[in-house]
Amino acid sequence: MSRDELRFPTQAFINGAFVDTKRTYDLINPATGEVLAAVADCGEAEARQAADAAHNAFLTWKQTTAYQRSAIMETFVKLLQANSERLAQIMTAEIGKPIKESRGEVKYATGFVQWYAEEAKRIYGETIPSSFSDKRILVEAAPVGPVFAITPWNFPAAMITRKLAPALAAGCTFIIKPPAQSAISALAMAELLQEAGLPDGVFQVIPTSQSSVVSDVLLADPRIRKLAFTGSTHVGTLLAEKAARTVKRVSLELGGHAPFLVFEDADVEKAAAEAMNCKFRNAGQTCICTNRIYVQESIKDAFLQAFLKRVADLKVGAPIEEDTDIGPLVNQQGLDKAKEHIADALEKGAQMVAGQEAPAQKGLFLTPTVLTGVTHDMVVAREETFGPVAPIMTFKDEAEAIALANDTPYGLAAYVFTRDVSRVYRVTDALDYGIIGVNDGVPSTPQAPFGGMKASGVGREGGHYGLEEYLERKFISLKL
Ligand code: SIN
Repeated sequence: MSRDELRFPTQAFINGAFVDTKRTYDLINPATGEVLAAVADCGEAEARQAADAAHNAFLTWKQTTAYQRSAIMETFVKLLQANSERLAQIMTAEIGKPIKESRGEVKYATGFVQWYAEEAKRIYGETIPSSFSDKRILVEAAPVGPVFAITPWNFPAAMITRKLAPALAAGCTFIIKPPAQSAISALAMAELLQEAGLPDGVFQVIPTSQSSVVSDVLLADPRIRKLAFTGSTHVGTLLAEKAARTVKRVSLELGGHAPFLVFEDADVEKAAAEAMNCKFRNAGQTCICTNRIYVQESIKDAFLQAFLKRVADLKVGAPIEEDTDIGPLVNQQGLDKAKEHIADALEKGAQMVAGQEAPAQKGLFLTPTVLTGVTHDMVVAREETFGPVAPIMTFKDEAEAIALANDTPYGLAAYVFTRDVSRVYRVTDALDYGIIGVNDGVPSTPQAPFGGMKASGVGREGGHYGLEEYLERKFISLKL
């Protein structure tokens, strides 16, 4: 699509209008290094305007019926579907996600809106038997209030709708600070929400290159009742501390370091195929991409052969091309980090069994890399690489596999490959992770709760669990 066909907004979206800001920042296409757009650079003033708008709109939006909110969301679904190719191409230009994956993400993002448009009608209360004959105990649901959301660049659309859809279903208003790198996706959604008939002030987008300036205003504002964040554990912790000062509800989807366990009774070909999807999705830049592949010693060679055969077939290239599997990393910092992790592992004795050749493309590309002989003293085995780097280790037995998998402060996603049903229960019981894929390398879906244990976060997104995060429960004691 030409730039004219992509037609995206670049101004901030506040109280139902696209508005200019004093400054703009350049959004760079990571595949070409070219400026894609000059985007509104919001500061304190816009953050305050957004808070006022979200507060005022909440007073009426919370009184709408679930059926009214659901109808607007259904229209939004149709508009997302009608604009899916445009949204996918915007995303690919912003962050370098291969176009076939961007199309998949638009579907995934739409799925959240569709699911919560239906679930809005099923926000139930409860009556609880009282111990007094003259009393009735009622529990009612109410929206939490205006929400401040901060989303990551690696899923420019889905990480918004995973928060926005339950918030709208519940009756909350919403302010999003999208990542500077993928702000256009958020603004394009604002246009569609406006077209869908969402009342002014229910949704605002405040792009910025000065995240903490905007965040500090909104986190200090007592009218904002919830923070929903996806990003690093470090930043999430700082935000949660600030949110605590005005006692906001908090959902945090933070970093991960996903183990991928392949037991000797697994279907090795299937395990290798799922490891590919899991590891190399979005060039390894997802929170639930495996960072550590552990294979039982007896099947190490068979697994490695099956895995390397597939790695050799990956096409690294321009993300807009239909057959590209691996696009660029999002920025120079991301590329440098992945290279540092590889260098550290090689220095400490790992072997590079794929990835020796430099990529043909200039710029932020990295050849998919497989490392063997990895140990837990290497950075790659402890910190999120966020790149196409697959470290492979071995284990002797089930107890060792579980101990290695749990040897991390994180607890977002883990993967288990086995054909033994009893082992499935034993291992999933023992793993300290919020999401476990059993013979499944890509478990994410709108109906299921996504979120982590330990340093990987607080709360869940998706499914009916995700809706509760945007609801207060009021206990009403009625004396007859
Ligand atoms: C993430 O990387 O945070 C999201 C991944 C997913 O939804 O599958």
